[in-house]
Amino acid sequence: MNAKSEIKRIGILTGGGDCPGLNAVIRAVVKTAIFRYGLEVIGFHDGYLGMIEDKARALEAADVSGILDRGGTILGTSNRDNPFRFPAMVRGRKIFRDVSDQAIRNLRRRKIDVLIVVGGDGSLSIAQQLFQKGVPVVGIPKTIDNDLSATDVTFGFDTALEAAMEGIDRIHTTAESHHRVMVVEVMGRYAGWIALEAGLAGGGDVILIPEIPYDIEKVCEKVKERNRHGKRFSIVVVAEGARPKKGEVVVQRMVEDSTDPVRLGGIGFKVSSEIEKRTGLETRVTVLGHLQRGGSPSAFDRILATRFGTRAVELAMEEKFGRMVCLRGRHIRDVDLKKAVTKLRRVSPNGNLVQTARSIGITFGD
Ligand code: F6P
Repeated sequence: MNAKSEIKRIGILTGGGDCPGLNAVIRAVVKTAIFRYGLEVIGFHDGYLGMIEDKARALEAADVSGILDRGGTILGTSNRDNPFRFPAMVRGRKIFRDVSDQAIRNLRRRKIDVLIVVGGDGSLSIAQQLFQKGVPVVGIPKTIDNDLSATDVTFGFDTALEAAMEGIDRIHTTAESHHRVMVVEVMGRYAGWIALEAGLAGGGDVILIPEIPYDIEKVCEKVKERNRHGKRFSIVVVAEGARPKKGEVVVQRMVEDSTDPVRLGGIGFKVSSEIEKRTGLETRVTVLGHLQRGGSPSAFDRILATRFGTRAVELAMEEKFGRMVCLRGRHIRDVDLKKAVTKLRRVSPNGNLVQTARSIGITFGD
């Protein structure tokens, strides 16, 4: 790879599940690289797949014009294609191969001096492995789940939260009119941030999160108590990763080629049918699902993505490889990529947000 003063070309890919703000980050990287440093930028298509199969294109300033407000990613993404565990069919059987050397060869052939990886824990772990193999990488964290410990916030979360809150708001009026218990299942994997914050912002009565296993009896008590006090409806916000005290998470499907093959989902139906059975109250479920990942990014996410993108190019120029940009308080910092991917950031059951929720009568079912 080139020496510091010779950095001329950077590569960028977006990996893992998409989230609002990815286009804003691509735009910031391309504009900073071209306008400030006179670099060339190559964008790989569909995450690591583009690197493995050498599918990429040059990104000019014109390519990133008008994309700031668009959800998704103009580069495409994939949460399955891991160069260290890439599927292949051999004599009718699926096997997994390490094709990382091939992917790195493609980078070198394209004379890419630094690779910027925009991803969640899965894609950033792969970036770290590539770094260990000598690839100069810089990471940018993204995920609606907000579950990376090395940054206070990831972009995408704020927009997803807004979508979840709006969903709960809409459910509220119909719940009230029909005097029903409405269960709203939200995303978040093993972290309860979306459920907790959307539940707080949307006026949920019960919030079930992975970090606080619930007892369904306690949930039903809350619903019945509301009924006794004349509140004939209840809103129960359930994180997809929530689980009962003596039970397991509900797995919707397994995606074998993915870095994390488990796809959660379905707990809302379980909670709803138990509430209906135990209280006799009419109950409905809404799974907000991928609605939370789509749409135009919020102002907060656009700004955070732009700050991350700009700083990532600066890090590349400073040759601070193996680092990930992050937000600490109001400041953009950078951390060791290895540290960034080893620990998930989860809700603290004794933290201020949970205490605040409890203070206003929200039940966590514990
Ligand atoms: O990590 C983001 C996320 O949206 C999670 O909240 C959710 O569990 C998962 O991705 C869904 O993945 P997929 O798009 O493969 O269904």
